[in-house]
This record gives sequence, C-alpha cells and structure tokens, in this order.
Amino acid sequence: MLKVGIVGGRGLSTIAGFQNRPELCEVSAICDIDGGVLDDAVKKHGIPRSYRIFDDMLDSDIDAVVIATPMHCHVPMAIQALERGLHVLSEVTAGVTIDELWWLIEAVEKSKKTYMFAENYCYIPQNAVIKAMVNDGLFGKVYFGEGEYIHNVLSLVSRSGFGMPTWRKYWQLGKRGCFYPTHSVGPVAQWFEGDSIKSVMTCSSGQNVAEIEGLRQDDTTLTMCRLESGGLVKIRVDCMSPRPHNMSYYSLQGTKGCYEAPRGLGDEHKIWLEASGDGDNRKWAPLSDYYDKYLPERYKNATEKQKQSGHWGGDFFLVDDFLDAVINGKKPAIDVYDACEWTAVGLLSELSVTNGGRAIDMPRFRPGTPLSEQIIKL
Ligand SMILES: NC(=O)c1ccc[n+]([C@@H]2O[C@H](COP(=O)([O-])OP(=O)(O)OC[C@H]3O[C@@H](n4cnc5c(N)ncnc54)[C@H](O)[C@@H]3O)[C@@H](O)[C@H]2O)c1
Repeated sequence: MLKVGIVGGRGLSTIAGFQNRPELCEVSAICDIDGGVLDDAVKKHGIPRSYRIFDDMLDSDIDAVVIATPMHCHVPMAIQALERGLHVLSEVTAGVTIDELWWLIEAVEKSKKTYMFAENYCYIPQNAVIKAMVNDGLFGKVYFGEGEYIHNVLSLVSRSGFGMPTWRKYWQLGKRGCFYPTHSVGPVAQWFEGDSIKSVMTCSSGQNVAEIEGLRQDDTTLTMCRLESGGLVKIRVDCMSPRPHNMSYYSLQGTKGCYEAPRGLGDEHKIWLEASGDGDNRKWAPLSDYYDKYLPERYKNATEKQKQSGHWGGDFFLVDDFLDAVINGKKPAIDVYDACEWTAVGLLSELSVTNGGRAIDMPRFRPGTPLSEQIIKL
C-alpha cells in the first residue's frame, strides 16, 4: 500500500484520484505551514496525520509526496524527498532557475525513484483527443502549434485584507518573460512527440495596465519556440490584462488538417481534415464528432465526480498515471526531462525578452548531458 503525503493545500486537487484507488494507495499525511489549511484538510478529507514542518512529514512512513507549495519551493522539496527515497509528483513549474533544473535531474537520476510533473493541462480531454488523432496521422505532418494562458492574477499578489505580498508578487509577476509556460507548452509539445525545443524567442508588450509597485512582468508576452524538426510553437502568456480569462486556448496545424480550441461566446472545439473530403470548401467540423473513436477509454468511462475534479478532469487522470509509474515501474507520463524543458521555456524567455527578443538556445535536458554542455549559449 503506497502511503502518500501532500505538501501545500493545492495538492488536495489530487485527492479524488488517490482515493479512487484504495487498493493501491492512501493519502496518509498532509503538510502546510498554515494551520487553517491543515484543519480543513483533516476535517474534509479525513487525512490521518498533519504536519506544519515538511521534514517532519518526510520523517513519517510515507512513500511518495505531492508537492504543491509555491514555485520556488518545488526543487528544494523534491530533492529532499528523492534523497530520502520517496517518489515525487510535482506541481508546475518544475523550478525557478536553470541551475535548479540540473540539480533536479541529477537528484532524480541518482534516486532512481519516480518523478512525475503534474502538468494537468496535458490531460484536458480535448488535448488527449488531439494527441490520439495526431498519433493516427490525421493531421499529416504537424508543423505549428499554439497555446495561450490568459489569466489575470493581479488579485493574488497580495493577501486579501492584509496587503502583504504573496510569492506570486516575486516569482510570477515579479519576473520578466513568459514566467508560467508549461500549461501552454506541455499539451502542444505532446503533439510533437519525439521532437524537442531548440530555441526560444520572446517579445513583450510592456506594462500598460499594472498599478502595483514592484511588478516587473509585461502585460503580454509572446514566445516562439523553434523545434528540432523545424516546427514552430507560439505561446502567449498574459496574467495582467483586464479581460476574461482564457487559460486553455490551443491550436494545431499540420499538412492535412488543423484544430482550434474555442475562444468564447458559443465557439467550440473544431477541426478541419483533408480526409473529410470537402475539397476546397474546407469547412470546420465539431471536434466532438471524433470523440467516439479518439477520446481515450478512461475519459469515456469517467464518473461525474471524476469529470468534475479540477481542470476539466485533468487533476484526476494524472494521478492514475503517477500510480502506474510508481507501482509498475513505468516511465512517467511526463518525466523530469520534459518538465525541465517546458519550464526552461520561461527561464530562457526572461533572457530573450531583456535582449531584444534574441533567440536563446535550449540546453539539452536529456540523460547524459555533460557538465560542459549544461550552459546557456549566448
Ligand atoms: N496545475 C494547476 O492548474 C495549478 C493551479 C494553481 C496553482 N498551481 C501551482 O501550485 C502551486 C501552489 O499554488 P497555490 O495557488 O496553491 O499557492 P498558495 O499560495 O495559495 O498556496 C500555497 C500553500 O503552500 C503552503 N506553504 C508555503 N510554503 C510552505 C512550506 N515551506 N511548507 C509547507 N507548506 C507551505 C502555504 O501555506 C499555502 O497553503 C504553485 O506552484 C502553482 O504554480 C498549479
């Protein structure tokens, strides 16, 4: 029986997934420095043990940890857990500096434990459908993908009622460049399986609406990722502009078809495929026409509770994949190398945006990269 500990209240988004597999695992501990979060978690979810100090939870009998603390805590906590022989499911992003990403890879390789990146947007049902259709060759050669994360988080940079800054003031809106790339990059990267990101270029709009002193983030950043295959991925991140959210816009273009997610007001997920046989008329079709054949079985069989778990059900299915990797020794669905490459898009974009949009080469976040190549080429 795998005993799981969660650190950081948001980690409770995985609880439905773990509790759905009582024959395999139990969430036996929760840790948060905020006693109120602990009280709520224990009352609501019946978690047997709670801790204020992470080391104390690691000293207990847990086998795996879900890390859902602020971004700058992820790598230090993951390394601590891996060094004690625990498996790790980590929230996004993987880390906050390039050095941290190398430390993380080293710790995962040394520990031989499972590290999985909890990039739940890869599990959005429509993204899974598109992945299955890409794998079946319906889009031909895929050469362009796009992801947008538009989510105004200005209200989250200070604690309501206290005016005290939160971590988001520094590690999100206090940063330059595309600070939160993985929700957009991750799903698109999965449509380019076997490919990798070669370089990153970012341009930005400057600050037009932010009124909070000390913020360094631009209102909008546009990042272009050039892939090894020559393919192109465009990412827009905007966490400050006054407008409705759209955190899950994606598109894809291949030689034989294309896909676009909705952008609001009655729009829907839609595709066009050469195979539809409509010649030069080229009319959109609802993506839902293809669910019968391409929606993975586990989504079709999902209960209402599973569908309602966070992020369109994504928070549920990623737990299944984590358990599969830990228990059956499989390669995690999103491993440490993907986690680092997707995270580094943001870290390199900071260099690009402060250097006139210059292209910055992606380091090779893959096994066996020697120290001499663990550099950022300028
Ligand atoms: N995947 C997603 O869809 C998604 C959505 C929201 C947030 N996130 C990620 O989840 C993480 C947490 O975000 P959030 O919005 O929940 O932040 P938050 O600030 O609301 O919550 C962080 C929690 O961690 C606790 N904490 C902080 N330092 C700690 C420590 N040293 N030991 C124990 N507990 C500690 C805090 O008390 C707080 O309860 C971030 O990395 C964020 O990027 C991911």
